[in-house]
Amino acid sequence: MSRYNPILVANWKMNTSLADAVVLTQSIKKYLENQRQVEVVLAPPFVWLYPVQELLSKQPLNHLAIAAQTMHEQEEGPFTGEISAMMLKRMCNYVLLGHSERMQFGETLETVNKKIRRALEWKLKPIVFVGEAEPGTFGRSVSTTLNTLLHLISKDIYHKIIFVYEPIWAISTKARSRAITGHELENAVALIRKHVGEEARILYGGSVTPDDCAQFLHIFGVNGLVVGNASLKAKQFIEICKIASETHAAEKTFVS
Ligand code: PGA
Repeated sequence: MSRYNPILVANWKMNTSLADAVVLTQSIKKYLENQRQVEVVLAPPFVWLYPVQELLSKQPLNHLAIAAQTMHEQEEGPFTGEISAMMLKRMCNYVLLGHSERMQFGETLETVNKKIRRALEWKLKPIVFVGEAEPGTFGRSVSTTLNTLLHLISKDIYHKIIFVYEPIWAISTKARSRAITGHELENAVALIRKHVGEEARILYGGSVTPDDCAQFLHIFGVNGLVVGNASLKAKQFIEICKIASETHAAEKTFVS
């Protein structure tokens, strides 16, 4: 059993109006006021970071935080449309890095490595995605991928990074070939764990819904979930939070 409470990341991607962002934030915050068995990280589009932070800062909850969906690797400069760690630091504690949807716009593992290092320098906690495009190929690519992503980062600080296993073939925005099996997920998490050590948290991200989240949360080594589509409806996301807290509470009882 994990000693951590499960962490649930709501990746809103390029969705939500300001009104949607406000309602989602308020509903999730209200739910979490009485529920401390899960940690939630909201990842709104850049333009809603400030309003979401304003809503959360009135009565901050330690277990409800904000992430940016990406950032630039440089400190500052002529990078039209980009945003730096220094700018984000004012508004969030986490940043998603290396999501497969970013990689398709030309981000490489080498750039993601630079972003991770820059984020750590600014004490932003990186949430880093790793995964494979075709089922069954993760074992072959995992070492090279993680070696590149973690280049020049000391093993002593791997625990400051949250890793997400994201099998690209299983996420809803791609032509989803099929759902992942428990066995595949357990193997993939073990491969990542072998590389990053016992302290780092590893999440699963790949079309999670209230109907199937329990089966992922039960997998040994999975410390939480990244939720895309199902995080856009407060009711569905809160349902996932409830299931995660119940799963965790049941495991705690089982162990003690
Ligand atoms: P999805 O997105 O839950 O909509 O598949 C997950 C992700 O891409 O992070």
